[in-house]
Amino acid sequence: MPFRSKLPDVETTIFTVISRRAAEVGALNIGQGFPDFPIDPRLAQHVAAAMAEGRNQYAHGDGLPELRQAIAGKLARAHGIVADPVGGITVTCGGTEALFSAIQAVVHPGDEVIVFDPAYDAYEPAVRLAGGRCVRIPLQPPTFTIDFERVRESLSPRTRLLLLNNPHNPACVVHGRDVLDELARLLRDTEVLVLSDEVYEHCVFDGRAHASVLAHPELRERAFAVFSFGKTLHVTGWRVGCCVAGPALMAEFRKVHQFNTFSIATPLQLGIARYIEEDPSSWSGLADFFGRKRDRLTAGLAGSGLRVLQTQGTYFQLLDYSALSDLPDVEFADRLIREGGVALIPLSPFYRSRPRLQLLRICFAKREDTLDLAARRLREFAAGLAASPSAAPAGAQTPWATA
Ligand SMILES: Cc1ncc(COP(=O)(O)O)c(C=O)c1O
Repeated sequence: MPFRSKLPDVETTIFTVISRRAAEVGALNIGQGFPDFPIDPRLAQHVAAAMAEGRNQYAHGDGLPELRQAIAGKLARAHGIVADPVGGITVTCGGTEALFSAIQAVVHPGDEVIVFDPAYDAYEPAVRLAGGRCVRIPLQPPTFTIDFERVRESLSPRTRLLLLNNPHNPACVVHGRDVLDELARLLRDTEVLVLSDEVYEHCVFDGRAHASVLAHPELRERAFAVFSFGKTLHVTGWRVGCCVAGPALMAEFRKVHQFNTFSIATPLQLGIARYIEEDPSSWSGLADFFGRKRDRLTAGLAGSGLRVLQTQGTYFQLLDYSALSDLPDVEFADRLIREGGVALIPLSPFYRSRPRLQLLRICFAKREDTLDLAARRLREFAAGLAASPSAAPAGAQTPWATA
């Protein structure tokens, strides 16, 4: 039966396409963002105990009080943020649901939403489903700094929301307090709200501090912030995250959330609450934990000809291969899968107007042996290219060229 698609041009995500290609040829899939190491057994035990205690029925739609209390405690200790566990925190189905529900709550048909490219792929479809339109502002590599003049020019009476991602995936940069100050100045006399995706809040390196919109006195009143236990506790498959905002925005958010996911798995919530209360090092130690992995990968690639753009935050690393090949990133990624046995994510699909880039994203939330294997294969592939840079990519096909 014919019907009109609401998202006719949305295709399979680059993550799915690359993962499928990697599986087809048996390549090491180290582009997508999920850990391959085991979780802390104490976390699993807490969840099992919650089930055994009979905590298996619907949770409160706003989130278990125990978890909202634990989140409030964590926000205070980690970032000095005061959040109200009763009216200001809602537990969601991962960061993704928090983003989706916030967008549906505030974006009206015809509204504009400012988004910075490269943009995480969940933003634009959610805005369009709400009837809005994304105004995408490109950030230029290698610094990916925000062009504030461009932001000022992009603001219009239709602008409803500005979507910030900090630390930024896939650019792997961290926006400091100075960036938030500048955005606050630009938005001061407007009614533009801010949706801040902070799922990598604890993955900030080299002594940087995470600058949350919730810790910014001016932005806070107009902001939703989004967090993810998937990222923080290495449990991306559990789908537990949260949204934090002031009471008025949170009331609107909950109107959507209650008819979207309604409530999140009770034993997971209780297990997480008990675990993060019992062991704050589960999140406070993450910067060191991931920083060591980042440095191991960087050392493993030394002298390979792949230039590492030192990651400031997130658990990804951008690699610049321009010294080795002129191929655009999507084609280079395909060649790397087929000939190098490593699957990485090209950066250009995260831009609306795809620039010609020579950057690939690698995930270092992996075991040391996985990182070492990836580094070895990348070194060997790079050495082969350096020896015969013009070698034709035999039967080159880029099935995701239009994804
Ligand atoms: C920037 C960004 N935002 C949001 C999410 C979604 O988080 P979750 O897995 O908790 O839904 C991700 C996941 O990769 C992400 O990278």
